[in-house]
Amino acid sequence: MVVIAVETSCDETSVAVIAEERILSNVVSSQVKVHEPFGGVVPEVAARHHLKNLPQVFRKAIEDAKLSFNEIDVVAVTYGPGLIGALMVGLSFAKGLSLALEKPIVGVNHLLGHVYAAKLSFPQLEPPFLALLVSGGHTELLLFTDDPTKPEVIGRTVDDAAGEAFDKVARLLQLGYPGGPAIERAAKSGDPHRYHLPRAMLDKDKLDFSFSGLKTAVSYLLKSEPNANKSDVAASFQEAVVDALVWKTSRAMELTKVKRLVLVGGVAANLRLREKLSEECSKKNYEFYVPPIELCMDNAAMIARAAIELARRGMFSDLNLNAVPYLSF
Ligand code: KG4
Ligand code: ZN
Repeated sequence: MVVIAVETSCDETSVAVIAEERILSNVVSSQVKVHEPFGGVVPEVAARHHLKNLPQVFRKAIEDAKLSFNEIDVVAVTYGPGLIGALMVGLSFAKGLSLALEKPIVGVNHLLGHVYAAKLSFPQLEPPFLALLVSGGHTELLLFTDDPTKPEVIGRTVDDAAGEAFDKVARLLQLGYPGGPAIERAAKSGDPHRYHLPRAMLDKDKLDFSFSGLKTAVSYLLKSEPNANKSDVAASFQEAVVDALVWKTSRAMELTKVKRLVLVGGVAANLRLREKLSEECSKKNYEFYVPPIELCMDNAAMIARAAIELARRGMFSDLNLNAVPYLSF
């Protein structure tokens, strides 16, 4: 099955073509430079840039894939969660494409897309598996058993997402946007044990996360020590987030015993998190699957791969497909 996918849920404009597990093209145009001066994504500006960039991103994806339009079987598109205006640009484009090519359209949940980035890198990966999905808007522990398109959410954040915490703390430290990579860079030369920051574990037997207290603790720390070493604060903060993620995921491994862990989402680009979860999986005798960094970040290839699962099960959408900004599982 050859799928072309369009992803415009936040600040990356992306079009990809895949043939089963094989990525024929995966063009990502980032708007980081555009939103940088504002310290975060400005929704209307994001939508306008998708509108402007999508045609050239599409053209490049077709050229790179080196195939003709009639070889495409399915058009896939992210319909949520994400920024409403941004999603609508991608949806309108994909609907036009579906009409012009006379090929069916599949609406894809962006979160399912993140999980299927792992399947692009590890085609042999099959349920049952546990997935830790950590992005700018979500922090969820997902259990995939029988239905590979519909996981059970066994844990989620009760307040901020992990990526959101990275972005907010980077702002407090004036490290710039996007916060995750900036914190990771600063943390490299810092001491992770210099400041003891809280690891909110909530109820020991629950698998939910909480990161807003940690952000508040960093804010108090900076008020009481305005000249605190930024690298030490960044390293201590990163260690606290990673500890909380690893601890709860480890608990989920004990409770579910599925023996396979998948780490996905933008925060999965964090090397400290990759390292600590990998160690935990070795200790617990779990198989550990984490896609390469470029597939952890938003991209259309992961959307295309998730669409294959949906299309195989006849889960096509119709042209009434609408954007769902708060879509969940
Ligand atoms: O999955 P993603 O690209 O977009 C969403 O669907 O949200 O994730 C973006 C999030 C941002 O919050 C960003 O700061 C975070 O992922 N991120 C990182 C790193 N790279 C990106 N967080 C920690 N360490 C990183 N290296
Ligand atoms: Zn994402």
